[in-house]
Formats: sequence, structure tokens, C-alpha cells
Amino acid sequence: MQLHEKIPNNVDLAGDRKLLRALEHWQPSFLEWWQTMGPESFQATDVYLRTAISVDSAGWAHFDYVKMPEYRWGIFLAAPEPDRRIGFGDLMGQAVWQEVPGEHRNLLRRLIVTQGDTEPASVEQQRLLGKTSPSLYDLRNLFQVNVEEGRHLWAMVYLLHRCFGRDGREEAEALLARRSGDPDRPRILGAFNAPIDDWLSFYMFTMFTDRDGKYQLVALAESGLDPLARTTRFMLTEEAHHMFVGETGIRRIVQRSCELTRKAGDRGARAEGGIDLPTLQKYINFWYSVSLDLFGGEISSNAAEYFACGLKGRANEKKFEDHLALEGVYRMVVPEGGGLRETDVPLRNAMNEVLRDAYIDDNQRGVDMWNKTIVEHGIDFKLSLPSRRFNRRIGIYADLSFTPEGEPISKEEFERRREEWLPSESDRSYVKSLMQPVFEPGKMANWIASPTKGIDGKPLTFEYVRLA
Ligand SMILES: [Fe+2]
Ligand SMILES: [Fe+2]
Repeated sequence: MQLHEKIPNNVDLAGDRKLLRALEHWQPSFLEWWQTMGPESFQATDVYLRTAISVDSAGWAHFDYVKMPEYRWGIFLAAPEPDRRIGFGDLMGQAVWQEVPGEHRNLLRRLIVTQGDTEPASVEQQRLLGKTSPSLYDLRNLFQVNVEEGRHLWAMVYLLHRCFGRDGREEAEALLARRSGDPDRPRILGAFNAPIDDWLSFYMFTMFTDRDGKYQLVALAESGLDPLARTTRFMLTEEAHHMFVGETGIRRIVQRSCELTRKAGDRGARAEGGIDLPTLQKYINFWYSVSLDLFGGEISSNAAEYFACGLKGRANEKKFEDHLALEGVYRMVVPEGGGLRETDVPLRNAMNEVLRDAYIDDNQRGVDMWNKTIVEHGIDFKLSLPSRRFNRRIGIYADLSFTPEGEPISKEEFERRREEWLPSESDRSYVKSLMQPVFEPGKMANWIASPTKGIDGKPLTFEYVRLA
């Protein structure tokens, strides 16, 4: 572990002068990007942050006050597995690659650049959020997520520099040149180009959109390109905290919504300044459906190729029995003549859908937790995930209209009922109107309940962010 170098790392950067120089050259551009595009108004603030200092599960993190631009962004790969072999696809059983095979160079570069692009994009989307944080606890969590997305960018840039030579260097520069929402040089994926400027959307993003990221990383952690598999494995330990922020953030809003609903009776939670459950459901419908799109088309020859070549596996490939997936089929519901029909798709072509299934199950577990909270408050309401066909822009259901239950309907009916299902302008402006900062240690905004415990064993009254 080389922690005290200019770029903390566990990849012996000092032993590779050329790579070290390339990364040291990129570092000032990164810092300049962070200063201009990172959290606005808090760059000089002391934040109680967790920094990675090792990769073993016992005590990899160190907590202390840090000014974000001084965060020790480093390069950390999970420990190598001795004699690791490719675990799926046509090359199953062959030794994993330490260098990029020429024939897969373009596909791998595209995978890494697409993943890498989402990391700075989310920091850009969230750069104004700090100003309206519901508490210091939440403010700190936002910044923790932001610096770790910055580190994930470092992880991908390391791979680009290490494995792709000159093209890699150019891609690394381009990752700092694109900007979320910029019409001329936008971020690569659509969902990463809209600002996230209210906290309900932030929790929805970390619950649903960031979880897509988790599943992409889980699939890349199986990759035959060993440095990619090892870097994503360590990224996943950080990603777990982002999911926690989203899932518990929404749980706390649900809890508060229930408390205020009881208090308000017939007047509804909004009368008491809360976010009512039907509005939460609409935000779920929106963020979940946008995030489903990030997995790509249901039937995909790209996905088949990634699998065949050993570049990207399934979530926890080991738990499957057949790692070739040549014979199997996936039963899929496809639109046909205004209705729906079931059909069998060759399994390799359905790999995006297989990954999406794992993602959906994981989300359902979170929704079940929220519903438990609602039941505990004796309120008759159930949150749910809409059908995977609802409100899609990508794949076989795009350009068609479905109810949240997945029933095909006409475009006209969808438009007529849109505001029943998705946040309306007035829902959005109501939610925005609640976004007033609460910066007193231990205090919470009215629309969200306190978390059950603090961070790093600290009490909830701890000053997680020191605002001068
Ligand atoms: Fe990330
Ligand atoms: Fe994340």
C-alpha cells in the first residue's frame, strides 16, 4: 500500500514511471474539474469523510475531517485471485488477461469509458444540492458519495492509462471535458444529463440510478480483463454506501410522511409540510423507469458479444450452473400488434434482461422495507415498482405506452393519465418548495425523519460538516 505518495495506490505506481507520469499529468486537470464542477460553496468546508486506506474488508476506511479538494483520491484494486480463470463465455477456463487482447480493445474501451463517464456526471448533476440539505448528516453523506464518485473516475482513468496507451490518455481527457447537460458535449447516457436539484430526487437517484451502476460493476467484476475485475470489486464496497444513502433516505421520508399523515388526518401529509405517499410513488415510477433504461435493450447482440468474449458476465456468475449459455433461452414478454406475447430469446441475447432481473429483485427488497414502515404506522397504502414496460425510452417497450401495471394502452390514454403516474410540474414545485437547508447539528428538515444512527459510531448531534 503506497498511501503517502502524490497518488495513493496499491498498484505499485512508483514501479511504473511512465504510467505514474501520465497519471500525475492528469491529476491537476482532475482537481481543476473538481473545483469548478464539484459541490458548489463547500470546497473550503471541513467534512467528516471516510477515505480508503486499504482493500481488506477489515478496516479499509479511515474517518476524519477533510476539505473535499484535499481528499486523497487513490487507485485501489481488490487483491488478485491466484490463478484466476475466465468464468463464462467462449473462453471459459482460460487464464484471465492482465493486458487488453487486441481483438477486444474497442469493446473494452467503450465499456470502461461509458462506466467512467457516469462517475463525474453524477457529481456535476448534484453540485448545487448541498445548499438545501435537510441536515448536516445528509450533507456529509452527499459529499461522501460525491468524493467516491470522483475516486471511481480515478479507477476508470487508471485502466484507460494503463491498458490503452494514447487512446486511453485521450479518453481520460475527454472524461473531464464532457459536462452533464451541456448541449454541445453532454455526458454519454441520457439519465446523467438532467440536474438533480431536490433531495427527493437525490435519494431516488442513489436508490435506483446508482444501483444500475452497482449492477454494471457486479457484471464487470466477472470480466476476463483482470485489472477491470479487481478495480470494480473494490468500487462495489464504496457503492454499497451509496445504495444505503438512497434506500434509507427514502425510508426516512416514508416514515415522516406516515407520521405527518396521521397528524393531518383528512388534510393529508402535505398540509403538515410532508411529502405524501402518492407523490413518492410517482417519483418511484419516474426514477425506476429511467434507471431500467440504463441496462440497454432487452434483446441485444452487443450483450451477447460481451458475454461470449468474456468481457462482462452476469451478476454473481458463480451461482449459475451453465456458464456457456449457448443452449438456454429466456422467456420474454414482447409487444406484438398492440398486445403482448411471450417468446423465447436465446439466452446470450437476453443478458441485459438477466442483469435487469437481478436489479429488479434488489429494488423490490428495498420497497418491501419501506412498506413495512407504512404498515407499522397503520396506514393503508402500498408502494410498488411499476412494470418494467412502463415509461421506457430504450428497448422493445420504447415508443409504446403501458400502465404502471404493464397493460398496453394508447398514447392518448397515457398522456391523459400521465400526471396520475409521473410527477407533475406542481408536484415538482411542491417538493422544491420544501428544500430549505437545515444546518444545525442534530436537527432535521420537517419532511424527513432522523436516521436510526449516526456515522462511524458518532451521535446524530455530531457536527458532520463544519460550516464556518
Ligand atoms: Fe460510482
Ligand atoms: Fe455510486
